[in-house]
Amino acid sequence: MSDALAGTRVVVIGGSEGIGLAVAQGALAGGAAVVVASRSAEKLAKARALLVAETGPGGAARVATQVLDITDEIAVEAAFAGIGAFDHLVISAVTPAFAPLQQMSNAAAERVLATKFWGTFWAVKYGSQRIAPTGSITLYGGLAAHRTGPGEAVLAFAQGGMEAFARALAVELAPVRVNCVCPGVTVTPLWDAFDPALRDAIYEETRASLPARRIADPADAAEPALYLMRSRFTTGEVIVVDGGARLV
Ligand SMILES: NC(=O)c1ccc[n+]([C@@H]2O[C@H](COP(=O)([O-])OP(=O)(O)OC[C@H]3O[C@@H](n4cnc5c(N)ncnc54)[C@H](OP(=O)(O)O)[C@@H]3O)[C@@H](O)[C@H]2O)c1
Repeated sequence: MSDALAGTRVVVIGGSEGIGLAVAQGALAGGAAVVVASRSAEKLAKARALLVAETGPGGAARVATQVLDITDEIAVEAAFAGIGAFDHLVISAVTPAFAPLQQMSNAAAERVLATKFWGTFWAVKYGSQRIAPTGSITLYGGLAAHRTGPGEAVLAFAQGGMEAFARALAVELAPVRVNCVCPGVTVTPLWDAFDPALRDAIYEETRASLPARRIADPADAAEPALYLMRSRFTTGEVIVVDGGARLV
């Protein structure tokens, strides 16, 4: 039986590193062509070199990149006009901010929402017009929507919004399917913004406390997105991939 991703075209916004890059790797392995989008041309060039090398013969023709800041509506509209028709859209872009609410600046909160709300809104608004009826959209939320610590309220608001957005859009954009993946702590460049000692302490605490007894790597958190693209009957769903974090 052939892979449902074979011959499809997948756009991954936030695909230059972390979980989005792992989604692109998995889609290519399934036989898709990918368009990997993010803000940094340098990160995109590095990602493309890796993806082409991993894919082997014919890889270069199946990997395209798109410099894109999804917080810029004009750029989003132009990018999708250039990309043209495709099958699946995955949005994993994030610009997180962590601070207790009473100390959080408007600018920091706006940075979170600019990507998670406005970026997602524009990417879906313009991207969905070019998605095949058999295609799908997968948003990324996060565990903060279900289980949070101090300093995560704004992120929780945004991540919970991704789940609600996916459910509503699944009805509105049907038959295009719309779903959401909710990862727990996953080892990606997202955590590079933290002090290394604090980051390693978070990793260690996570690893020790999870029923899975290990911490997620990007491929773990990408797997549900690959499933959601392949599954022709799953829509309006949230898949949590947290190693059991909500249980302990
Ligand atoms: N890692 C975790 O522990 C974790 C936990 C819970 C939820 N999540 C969720 O999982 C998703 C993926 O996270 P990740 O850990 O893979 O993040 P990451 O390693 O920080 O990667 C984020 C990606 O998004 C791109 N990006 C950021 N802002 C953008 C913008 N305005 N326009 C276009 N691209 C943009 C980045 O590239 P450029 O810098 O080149 O733009 C990068 O490719 C996010 O939605 C996040 O909320 C992650």
